[in-house]
Parts: sequence; structure tokens; C-alpha cells
Amino acid sequence: MPASWDALAGRARAAFADRFGGEPAVMGCAPGRVELLGNHTDYNGGLVIAAAIDRATIVLGRRAEGREGRFASAGFGEIDAFPLDAIERTEPGSWTRYTRGVCWALTDWAGPLVSGFDAIIAGDVPLGAGLSSSASLQAAVAWFLIQLGLVPNRPGTDFTRDIGDLHRMELAMTLRRSENEFVGVGSGLLDQFSSLFGRADHALFLDCETLVHDRLPLGNPAPAIVVCDSKTSRRLADGMYDQRRAECERIVDVYRDRIPHKGEFRLSWVRLDQLEADWDHLDPVGRLRARHVLSENERVRQGVEALKAGDVPAFGRLMSASHASSRDDFENSSPALDALVESAASSPGFLGGKLSGAGWAGCTVNLVRAEQADAFAESVRTDYARRTGLVPEVHVCRAADGAFGRDLGVDAG
Ligand code: GLA
Repeated sequence: MPASWDALAGRARAAFADRFGGEPAVMGCAPGRVELLGNHTDYNGGLVIAAAIDRATIVLGRRAEGREGRFASAGFGEIDAFPLDAIERTEPGSWTRYTRGVCWALTDWAGPLVSGFDAIIAGDVPLGAGLSSSASLQAAVAWFLIQLGLVPNRPGTDFTRDIGDLHRMELAMTLRRSENEFVGVGSGLLDQFSSLFGRADHALFLDCETLVHDRLPLGNPAPAIVVCDSKTSRRLADGMYDQRRAECERIVDVYRDRIPHKGEFRLSWVRLDQLEADWDHLDPVGRLRARHVLSENERVRQGVEALKAGDVPAFGRLMSASHASSRDDFENSSPALDALVESAASSPGFLGGKLSGAGWAGCTVNLVRAEQADAFAESVRTDYARRTGLVPEVHVCRAADGAFGRDLGVDAG
């Protein structure tokens, strides 16, 4: 666990004592993530390569009498108290909608939570920057509840031991359901998968249709993962994510009856050469979105081969090609994100870079030679400020382990 998380845990303990009194018994911890390749492929049944990063959410707490769940944020606000047997939604946009949603989904997955609890939340994943602070919050809450023994065991699982990948995947799907059905955000599996499956200095491959996955070494020494926050807000882009999903569906509708399939038909089952052959007859917007998704899948395949061959520079070039495709075909970049990628490309140690997550604002992610990461960060700050007048926030990260829980060495009550 990185030293910065110890400091975070110390802050959370103090906040716990302040809000609830006494000591917490356990901790759940889960990282944020970056998407390295495979932009907007997840909900299209496609391929992704991501990495968990060493910025995390932690949840500390203990059991409480009765059947009420209580969450508080170390930073601000009231305690959110709610009955575990009749969980209602809070207002959209509130973090409490996420925390309640995890309890709702875990109950549905494994049965009623065993008892009430008090919990405090702290974190250092930048909010609203495309680093999945929400999935890291979800996974940290889930792991906290598991560590506290509140989630009934699934057949074949002993939650008091480390959970195997099969149940981690079930948990990722449960948390995604919570986000889709309880929170009401139509995201794919990428974020929860990454937060749960992370491994230090490894990238994470996921086939979102078959759920085949792998952890791929990023090399030794592993490059730094440098996240640059453009300091532009995503609010302007509200609704764009769903619009892009709908645009992809236009092409799905064309091929659904033409390509034999079982179950729900996915855009990723269309071949790129087929799309290109049919180009002139396809919806002019949908075909661009589809070309991005299908070419991203291809870049992910090549990226897996590059990492298996230890060729990180080749992987970096694929990331930069991904950004160009987002910019030109998926049109989910912005002048600020493009400027930030260009600043990165002219900075020392750069191996490749792209926008991360939904797009339109927020962050870019770059692979940078580890020993040049600080010089890179300095150069991007200066160059981006010169181009845009905005001062970017630059986070030099490493690929980190996924969610885990820990006893804090006091009576769990
Ligand atoms: C957001 C979503 C993810 C994924 C990315 C784009 O981050 O939450 O599920 O769709 O956008 O790749």
C-alpha cells in the first residue's frame, strides 16, 4: 500500500472518531483507473486494456447495532443513514447514491447484509476527471462490507479469505448493475473490472463480451502512467455519452439481421473490412463511431501482442493512434484535450498518450519513461499553459494493485 494511502487512512481514522466516536475495525481500499486502450469499446462488446492506479478511495468502519447503514465523507457533509432492508435512492449526482447502491446490489447478489455499520470515506482519486473515482468508491465500499463480514458467502466462496478472480468478476458485474440500475448511469464494465483486478506494474486486458481477461506486465522498469488533468469540466458534455451509445446502435441495427449471432448483437461482431465495404450505404455519423470502436478493438489486439513481446514503445504508439481515432471518428475529444496530448507528445520520455474515459473533458493518460516522468510533467505544465492559458494538474502514477480489505486490529464489535 503506497505511503500516501497510510496518510489517507490516518485522516479517515481521525474523521471517524470525530463523526462516530471510537475506532474503526476494518478498511476497504480500491484504486481509480486509467483506460490505456479500447475507448468506448466496453459497452459495444469489445476489448479494453486498462490499469488500476495508485490513487484510491478508502472506507473505514465497524459494525453497529440494528439494521441501519451509515456513511460519512471525511471531507464534508452530513452522515447518510438508511435502513438496509428498504434502500431508497438519494438525489442524482450525490455520492450517497453510489454508496447506497452498493448495499442494494450486494443484497441482491448475496442476500441481506448481516448487520448495520458506521463507515467513513476518504480518497485521493481526482473527482470528475475520468479516473473512475465512482468505481473506486463502489469497490472500496464493497470490500469494506466484505471485510467486515457483512456480505453472506456465495456458494464456493469464503469471503474471509482472498476472493478468487471468478468472484471478483461477479462482484464487478454486481457493481456495474448497481451503477446502471440504482445510480442510473449507463456505463460499461471497464471501471469496476479495473478497480477490482489491478496489479502493480501490470496492464489489464478485458474482453467485455466473453469476460476473458489477463494481466500483462508493463515491463521492467515499468513506465510511469502520467495523468494530465486538462482542467476543463465535463458538465458541458452531459448527455454525450448516451448520444454516442445511440449512434453506435444505428450501425448495430443495420447488421443485427445480417450477421448470425446468439444473444444480444454487439457492434464488435461487425468486421472492420465489412464496415468499410458497406461505407457508402451506412449512416454518416454511425459509421464514423463504428470505425472508431472496431479499429480500437484491433489496436487492443495489437497492444496485447506488443506487451507480450515486451515492446512498450509500440504499445505507446497504439495509444497515440487511439487518441487520433477518438478525435477524428468518435469525436469525443476537445481542443483542450488535443492540446494536452500535443504538449505531451513534445515532452521528454513520452511513449504515447490519449484521452482517458468518456472524453470531451477531464484527463489524458500518457505512458512515460519512468526516469523522465518529472521532467515530462514539468514540460507539459509549461507547454499546455502556453497553448491554452490553463494550468494542468499532472499526476505521476504507477499501475497498482486492485481492491483489498484489511483488519485494523481492533474488535470488530
Ligand atoms: C466511461 C465509462 C466506461 C467506458 C469509458 C469509455 O469511463 O464509465 O465504462 O465506457 O467511458 O471507454
